This record gives sequence, structure tokens and C-alpha cells, in this order.
Amino acid sequence: MKFLIPLAFVAATMGQTVWAGDADAGKAKSMPCSTCHGLNGMSTLNEAPNLAGQPLIYLIEQLRAYRSGKRQNEIMSIMAKPLSNGDIEDLAAWYSSIKVEVK
Ligand code: HEC
Repeated sequence: MKFLIPLAFVAATMGQTVWAGDADAGKAKSMPCSTCHGLNGMSTLNEAPNLAGQPLIYLIEQLRAYRSGKRQNEIMSIMAKPLSNGDIEDLAAWYSSIKVEVK
């Protein structure tokens, strides 16, 4: 059983190196996004999806796909263009950290 602790530690540290997103920084960067996706990730625009509580990796992949052109959308392609990998990770960390209450 002893080896389980170091393994978990390694896994946790590796996770941090790969997804270094900072939710507070992401919140600050999300101001232009909030026009459509809401201040708390619950959308204010009918055609914009809610981002609150979405899985981190899903959000990162969607933003990268908009940026690269793999996923096309008139608005989001423009919004994602100037984002760096760090911006994307911060934004994804912020939106995925928002707790959504299920009733
Ligand atoms: C002018 C409105 C608008 C703004 C501003 C905007 N978005 Fe969007 N966003 C949309 C719409 C509309 C969609 C749905 C696009 C589609 O169908 O692919 C979308 C989709 C997304 C998705 C995919 C969600 C999913 O469920 O697949 C992500 C992630 C996202 N936006 C993040 C952002 C971030 C981060 C910003 C700020 C940098 C931002 N958006 C700014 C309107 C907007």
C-alpha cells in the first residue's frame, strides 16, 4: 500500500504541469466573454451555451478548436483567435470551477 501515496502525488503534480490554468486569472480575463456567456457562466444570449461547470478539458479543447478553425462559429472563431494557451487554460479553469446546482 505504501507506494500508492507517492503515485498519487506524482499524478497530482503532473496534472498541474499540464493544466496550469488559474481560475482567478481566468475570471478577470472572462469580462469580454460575459456579454454572452454571463458573469457566472450562465448565458445571457439564447444561442450561447452555458459554460459554468463544464469539464476543464472540454472547454480547453473547444477553445483550441475555435482558435485553429477546426470548430467554426462566426463569433467564437473571432473571440478565440487572440487567446494564448495560458489564456485558454485560465478561462477554462474559471468556468469549470463554477459550481452548478442541480435540482
Ligand atoms: C458575442 C457573444 C459571445 C462572446 C462575446 C463569447 N462567446 Fe463563446 N459562444 C458564443 C456562441 C453563440 C457559442 C455557440 C457557438 C457554436 O455553436 O459553436 C459560443 C460557444 C462557446 C464555447 C463552446 C461551448 C460548448 O458547449 O461547446 C466556449 C468554450 C466559449 N464559447 C467560450 C467563450 C470565451 C472563453 C469567451 C471570451 C473569450 C467567449 N466565449 C465569448 C457566443 C459568445
